[in-house]
Amino acid sequence: MGMAINNLPQIREECEILQLSEKQLREIMVRLHRDIEKGLGKDTHPSSIVKCWITYIQDLPNGKERGKFLALDLGGTNFRVLIINLRENHFDMQSKIYAIPQHIMTGTGIALFDHIAECLANFMMEHNVYEERLALGFTFSFPLKQVGLTKGILERWTKGFSCSGVVGTDVVQGLKDAIARRGDVQIDICAILNDTTGTLMSCAWKNHNCKIGLIVGTGSNACYVEKAELCENFEGGQSRADMLINTEWGAFGDDGALDFVRTEFDREIDVNSVNPGKQIQEKMISGMYLGELVRLALAKFTRMGLLFGGRGSDLLFQRGSFYTKYVSEIESDKAGDYTSCMEVLEELGLDHATEADMAAVRHVCECVSRRAAHLVSAGIAVLINKMGEPRVTVGIDGSVYRFHPHFHTLMCEKIAKLVQPGLQFDLMLSEDGSGRGAALVAAVACRESQQQFA
Ligand code: BGC
Repeated sequence: MGMAINNLPQIREECEILQLSEKQLREIMVRLHRDIEKGLGKDTHPSSIVKCWITYIQDLPNGKERGKFLALDLGGTNFRVLIINLRENHFDMQSKIYAIPQHIMTGTGIALFDHIAECLANFMMEHNVYEERLALGFTFSFPLKQVGLTKGILERWTKGFSCSGVVGTDVVQGLKDAIARRGDVQIDICAILNDTTGTLMSCAWKNHNCKIGLIVGTGSNACYVEKAELCENFEGGQSRADMLINTEWGAFGDDGALDFVRTEFDREIDVNSVNPGKQIQEKMISGMYLGELVRLALAKFTRMGLLFGGRGSDLLFQRGSFYTKYVSEIESDKAGDYTSCMEVLEELGLDHATEADMAAVRHVCECVSRRAAHLVSAGIAVLINKMGEPRVTVGIDGSVYRFHPHFHTLMCEKIAKLVQPGLQFDLMLSEDGSGRGAALVAAVACRESQQQFA
């Protein structure tokens, strides 16, 4: 082996394009804030990029919700069916994960809904509720134009889904039709909701300050409590003070608003995705893309001769081979220790990496995840500033937030810098929002319809 040359300084310099200055973050905040206002406004909504959909959820749980509910959770890496029993101060939950095979993710809508209905029926059989008629909450984590609590028109697919014949149609109807085609089980679909909404509700059950729900997982999005009078697209009257708004901020940047900070790596991810030009901010933040962003940077630096002695591997140059979980693993190594990093590099066929290479790989991971955490922080700061409440809890879920060792801390530090002085916030992991949240929304819906008919 020749003298190891330390290329770290040059790699650090190359990575500077991934760093967002506070000035840039503040500019991003101004633009996102403007887009959110456009989404809320009646005249500006049709052309707005950040849609700010009305969720029709106006009441947060009060802790008194009771009963047995089914829930479906579609839209992350896994599809799940759950049964939840809400009791006083606690709940029991059983769930099962089902795979959504690639051919179903990109097949027809009919096949997708038939698959969901089949999993649901099997689950009901296994849990001895096949004969019962239960209320169901459907967590469907894609952009939905909601027309009511039980009606939602799919605006676009995200996160690698592209089932045909669903965009522009009511997905609740799609599920009902599939259940009817089977003809065996009886279900009352009480609510359709987004995972951010479920996360907020689930957190709000115990924590009454929780007014923002955030997902940093396969995709990214946030919802928040808005004053009903500002929700111009809500036609149901303003009998109640608040409305949960699903921002769908993953689409932020689709009009070029983020081009001033995007890099060649971001553009390459986008071009090779199933939805080019769409979900631009999501592609800079979420778990579906972070690993690939790292890989693209590493591949470039290798080609430049700055890494691995200029010698890569087949996997390094293969799209999708650097999983986002690797980023979390590599950054979990203690300073100066490269145990996980070495394991990852070995898996990628890069056994010839030197310690300097490993330091560089770690630096690239840090830059990519830090940028994601900063973008999310800017978004959360916009919402906190907009609400202007003295103390807000943010309920958070998703694999990136959950498993990345520093994401939480990075967010706490950055949000503190970006919120208006005097506004306090807490970031809280929301346990299983998509499941429990769906049951809570269904329960609140039942509570209301019962009151209505009482
Ligand atoms: C979807 C959102 C969802 C987010 C997190 C995005 O791709 O559009 O509806 O909340 O992912 O799952």
